[in-house]
Amino acid sequence: MKTITLNNGNLIPQIGLGTFRSQDNAAYEAVKHALKVGYRHIDTAAIYGNEAEVGRAIKDSGIAREEVFITSKVWNEDQGYMATRRALKRSLEKLDLEYLDLYLIHWPKTYASSAETYKALEDLYEEGLIRAIGVSNFSFHHLEHLFATANIMPQVNQVECHLYLQNEKLLNFCRMHGIHLEAYAPLMSSHVKELLQDEVLQKLARKYHKTAAQIALRFLIEREFIILPKSVTPARIEENAAIFDFELSDEDIHTLRKRNRGRRYFPDPDNIGF
Ligand SMILES: NC(=O)c1ccc[n+]([C@@H]2O[C@H](COP(=O)([O-])OP(=O)(O)OC[C@H]3O[C@@H](n4cnc5c(N)ncnc54)[C@H](OP(=O)(O)O)[C@@H]3O)[C@@H](O)[C@H]2O)c1
Repeated sequence: MKTITLNNGNLIPQIGLGTFRSQDNAAYEAVKHALKVGYRHIDTAAIYGNEAEVGRAIKDSGIAREEVFITSKVWNEDQGYMATRRALKRSLEKLDLEYLDLYLIHWPKTYASSAETYKALEDLYEEGLIRAIGVSNFSFHHLEHLFATANIMPQVNQVECHLYLQNEKLLNFCRMHGIHLEAYAPLMSSHVKELLQDEVLQKLARKYHKTAAQIALRFLIEREFIILPKSVTPARIEENAAIFDFELSDEDIHTLRKRNRGRRYFPDPDNIGF
């Protein structure tokens, strides 16, 4: 798996298996299959309710802990300094791990709560319980406020990103600050069918002898996103990772860039109701 170097020198595999809405045995089997076929990066979160299954699958895979990159996220209700420390301990217990490779603030709430929560992440990082820290669903103004109080630059910002929501400006802004963007919902989540019917994706799929999903994911890889496609279907888990044996031409990337519609399927971080 191709890796990217974070701003603290740690390596992160450019593809991780997403696990949102993967439950119980399906989550366990998906993670186990992904690890078997070469994935070394799993994205979970406390709110997904599957940390125990994810942890068990990693253990049962027989792959050494240090070879797998594991991310979790602190949920909104656990924001604040002490609550975040407790939330990390709970996640580690469920996952049955000594440390996480990446821990993120799942959604921004107020600037003050982000600052406090992030302070907890910095301390947990210094204590060695998390190897990298970051945020999720942070736009420019959330990041700018965070920079005013943070001592450690976030390593990652995980945001919704796909063909119809390309986030070019946020990508450039984060790049300028050494923050890597992770694309969640890279296949447009529950709107995946709509994405796969996109006529340009279909045309390029025929040209490159790949699937429309693979073209959509490869497009994000070429723009240096870390991508987190979710699937509980073994063949799709394999399909989504088989995107490192071809490159899109500059002309085709240019054509795909023009498909951007600025269309969000997840809540606007400035207007969340949870
Ligand atoms: N930080 C955040 O706030 C946040 C929010 C959302 C998601 N995430 C993370 O990002 C990950 C990905 O996002 P997501 O799960 O919402 O959506 P996604 O990965 O864009 O799409 C998942 C959907 O696409 C289907 N699918 C996967 N590969 C396919 C393929 N090759 N061909 C056809 N269909 C395919 C899956 O079906 P099957 O599973 O049935 O195969 C599932 O219905 C999440 O799992 C989670 O880890 C983070």
